[in-house]
Amino acid sequence: MSTLTETTFKRIAEIARRRWGLSLGERKIQLVANRLASHLRKNGGGEIEQYVQRLERNPTDEDMLVLFDLLSTNVTSFFRDPAHFAFLERELYAPLAHGTLAVPGRKLRLWSAACSTGAEPYSLAMQALELLPPAMGFDVKIIATDLSNKALDGCRAATYNESQLTGLSPERRARFLQKVDAPKGATAEARWKVKDEVRKLVEIRRQNLVENYTGLGPFDVVFLRNVMIYFDRDTRHEVVTRMHGVVRPGGYLAVGSAETLSGLDVPFRPAAASIYIR
Ligand SMILES: C[S@@+](CC[C@H](N)C(=O)[O-])C[C@H]1O[C@@H](n2cnc3c(N)ncnc32)[C@H](O)[C@@H]1O
Repeated sequence: MSTLTETTFKRIAEIARRRWGLSLGERKIQLVANRLASHLRKNGGGEIEQYVQRLERNPTDEDMLVLFDLLSTNVTSFFRDPAHFAFLERELYAPLAHGTLAVPGRKLRLWSAACSTGAEPYSLAMQALELLPPAMGFDVKIIATDLSNKALDGCRAATYNESQLTGLSPERRARFLQKVDAPKGATAEARWKVKDEVRKLVEIRRQNLVENYTGLGPFDVVFLRNVMIYFDRDTRHEVVTRMHGVVRPGGYLAVGSAETLSGLDVPFRPAAASIYIR
């Protein structure tokens, strides 16, 4: 059986740090060993050591994206942190709807910056449709980006199992999702697809958060949630500094509830728990 030595693990961790800012602590060695071994088994076998040598010598972009998917996690859910959506309703949507806040050209731009398989950007789109109905004449767009193939494929398919819909109320399910017919004879769990009305607001792109944000911004709101936990301090600082360049003055940056900007020395000010204002 293919094994992962500590030295080889460190070489993989170095690739992950350099390319994606991921910080793979030594606690992850068993997890990484299992994922690499399973990947090699499914792809004709081979030793982890040879696989890593190949990645170090002449990897294609696709080889690297496959490795990224083996090392990263895509856990997500709809309306994952209700307090953040409540904040947007109170501080952004209600004042916009009442005319006590204005955005230039009635354009509202939101960025789900590590969108995973889509629950986050589609939640943002659903909330925008509820609180700023098209008849109000706002031009709302949610940019959804991730680096992972698995995430981007899931986001584009916008089709979810029953078990992935926790967080969506029955009203939202009825309004924004449609049941997808299972193939004849299939006994699989029911699947639900996000309706066009919601998908139309979301533009999906690939973006590595540690590379230039060309063509992105300015944004009224950025969700950078549950991704900085995988970065080391320098990468967090670099990413949040880049974010400062694409959030408009007065716009918001929301991070995960286990994440913070404190100690990073970047000019965002706290606005609420895990939400910052530029
Ligand atoms: C745990 S998910 C968070 C999803 C969503 N933001 C949420 O809070 O539910 C983390 C996501 O970050 C993405 N990610 C990690 N490092 C990245 C990088 N350097 N560039 C872009 N995406 C990255 C992963 O592919 C994964 O989809």
